[in-house]
This record gives sequence, C-alpha cells and structure tokens, in this order.
Amino acid sequence: MSNIDLHAAKRTKNDEFYTQYEDIQKEINAYLEYNPDVFRGKTILLPCDDPEWSNFTKFFAQNFERFGLKKLISTSYACESKGDCDTYCPTLFETASPKYDKNKTKTHGKIFTLTHDTNKNGVINIEDLEWTYLKGDGDFRSDEIKKLRDDADIIITNPPFSLFREFLAWIMEAHKKFIIIGNKNSAGCKEVFPLIKDNKMWIGTMPMGFDILFNVPEHVATELIKTAKSGSKYRIIDNIVYARASGCWFTNLDHGRRHRPLQLMTMEENIKYSKHKEIRGQGYQKYDNYDAVDVPYSDAIPSDYDGIMGVPITFLDKYCPEQFEILGSTQRGCHDGVPDTRKYNDYWEMKQSGERTGSSGNKTNENANLLRNDGKNNYFINSDGRCVQSLYTRIFIRKKKGGVQ
Ligand SMILES: C[S@@+](CC[C@H](N)C(=O)[O-])C[C@H]1O[C@@H](n2cnc3c(N)ncnc32)[C@H](O)[C@@H]1O
Repeated sequence: MSNIDLHAAKRTKNDEFYTQYEDIQKEINAYLEYNPDVFRGKTILLPCDDPEWSNFTKFFAQNFERFGLKKLISTSYACESKGDCDTYCPTLFETASPKYDKNKTKTHGKIFTLTHDTNKNGVINIEDLEWTYLKGDGDFRSDEIKKLRDDADIIITNPPFSLFREFLAWIMEAHKKFIIIGNKNSAGCKEVFPLIKDNKMWIGTMPMGFDILFNVPEHVATELIKTAKSGSKYRIIDNIVYARASGCWFTNLDHGRRHRPLQLMTMEENIKYSKHKEIRGQGYQKYDNYDAVDVPYSDAIPSDYDGIMGVPITFLDKYCPEQFEILGSTQRGCHDGVPDTRKYNDYWEMKQSGERTGSSGNKTNENANLLRNDGKNNYFINSDGRCVQSLYTRIFIRKKKGGVQ
C-alpha cells in the first residue's frame, strides 16, 4: 500500500490535500448514528479550512440546522505564511466583497462564522457565513486561533500532514473533543500511540485498510503526476486527479463500531480452518524478543488465548475496548508494559544475495522479531548463524478480563 510520507509531502505540497465531501459525510454520519445529539448546541471549530476549498465548511454549514449547531467557525491560513502565494488567487467571493483588501489577502488568514440566518431566507446554510480577515495569519498555533480553540467544543478538520503531531498536541492541551484526519502510521508513533493505549482517542469509522483519495489543486495534481510513481500516490477517476494517501480518522468522540467485538475463532479452530496459510496447519509463532505470540492478521486473533499477542496496526480500527486491552506497541518508548527480552547489537543485516547492508543489529532492537530467515527479505545474523527477521509495527494486546468474547 502506498504512503505519502513527510518527504513526499514537502515535494508535492501535500499539505494542500482536500478532503472529499463524501468522506466527511460518511464519517460524520457514523457519530450521529451513535448519538443523534452529538453536535447539538455545540460550537465547532474548523481551524485549517478555507470554505472556498474545504468541504468541511460546506458540509457543516449545510447541516447546521439538522445537527442543531450553536456556532460554526472556519479559519484559513495566509498563503504568504504557507510560502504558497505563487499559485494563490483570491476568489470572486472575496474580491467582490467590500471587505476585500489586496494586501491582507496574502498575509492574513480569514475567519468565517455561522450562527444565524443572516440573509433572512428562512434557512441557515453556507450563504449565511460571515467573514472577515483575522488579525494574524491564521496559524493554529497563534494566540488568536488558540482563543477560538478554547471557546469551541469540538475541533474537526484534516490538518496539515506535516504538522499532525503538533496539531494533536494542540488539541489535547485544551482537552477538546475532536475528529481529525492523519497519516495512519502516526497511530504507532510515540506522541500518538499512548493516547490510543489509554483510550483517550481512537480510530474513526473508516477502515484503515484503504487509502484516502483527496482533492488537490491543479498545480499539486501536475506535480504529483510528474514526480510520483503512476497510481501509487495519485489516482485519476473520470479525468480528475486525486492524491492518494494512507490516512485515517482519529477521534475522541464515540461511535458504534468501537463497541462491536470482533467475531473470532479459537486457537484450535484457527489452526484447522484459518484462511491464512501462515496460520492454517502452522499455529502462532512466539517473538524472539518479546513474551508474546505474533498474530499477523486481526481476523486470526485466537478468542481463547489469554497471553499477550502482537497484532498489526490495522487492528486499531477493529479495537473494541470491552473485548481487548492494549498494552503497548513495538515503537521505542511505547512498550514499558511489554519489555523486550533480547537485543541484537552483535548481529548484522544481510540481503538475501548474501551481501551485508552495512547496518548492525541495533537497527532491529525493539522491533517484533521472529527467529527465521524466510528466504525473501533482509535478515539479521550473528556469529553463531542465528537469524531473525523483523516485522512491521505490532500492537500488543490481551483479552480483557471478564470482557466480551
Ligand atoms: C491537508 S489540508 C486540508 C484542508 C482542509 N482541512 C480539508 O481537509 O479539505 C491542510 C490545510 O491546513 C492549512 N495549514 C497549513 N499550515 C497551517 C497552520 N500552521 N495553521 C493553520 N492552517 C494551516 C493549509 O493551508 C491547508 O489548507
């Protein structure tokens, strides 16, 4: 599966990926299904959202009355601060307004507020948005936007990919409710994972197994096509170029999927009937450096195993806190409760061709390692000929005592 990583983000300005209306609608509807009053009487802040581009603003403005919102605030970031004024062109909406200021348009952010039926046509919708320039550039870290954050009940957006961790910390320090998009790999990182482990946030309802397709401005689409491998970082559907990124939703608002336990087979049943050839007739392998068994697929978690299991990061979108507890992950600094039992400092990394890569075994310390050489991937070996191979990030889980099965 493809990833738009941070470096690619810088190259292709993927901070300018815009969430599709349908994706917002699908995600938000799931929270409403769980609690129809989730947004009632609330002030929602969309802090990275210029309505001329953002479907978040459109979606919440259109549904203002249905959701029973008290106030919707959407703020945008000045192109000069983004370093992106070359491609910036104010819209007719702005230039036609008496408030238009040809200097401020590049240096100042804008704030859009919706509270009531300003045009007195009997409905509150996007037409009733009132706007003005912010005092500053609209940086979410500025005091001006912090004040809006502090006054809001719920923060919703797809923040700049490159600032995701900072953005999340910014929300958490204000103890706000949120629904945001981020790279799914961030779920395993040491700034984010502890919040998931402690049930202070979780994955939204969109499955992690899919990439998200984003709308992009024309210059970003051109750059993607020029620099990315065909199909891996973008897709063209009906002649429209979409950026493809390995994102998912993160939230601390409850939704129904989170309380739906996985339907699982016992260990014996898995070994007999699992659809995965690594399990069927094979069983579960213990890690070489953790007191836990590897479960390479979430649907192969044995329902009757009481010990610690390592599962892929995509388990998180199936995690039901009434069924399992999360104990840690293989990320450095994230597994105090499941300490690693072996280091590989006297190993070195080999390619299957028999060539050394030049890396020492330190590289695989704290990864989930299996004692094996599968003949396909790089491996680590010591002077006794002992070989291990590392797996992708694993999350350590255990069946919840007295929990649902
Ligand atoms: C990934 S885009 C998403 C836009 C919109 N939320 C959406 O999903 O359609 C991130 C947006 O954050 C804005 N941005 C970048 N850095 C920012 C900052 N420091 N403070 C506020 N907004 C920022 C960018 O201008 C960009 O429009």
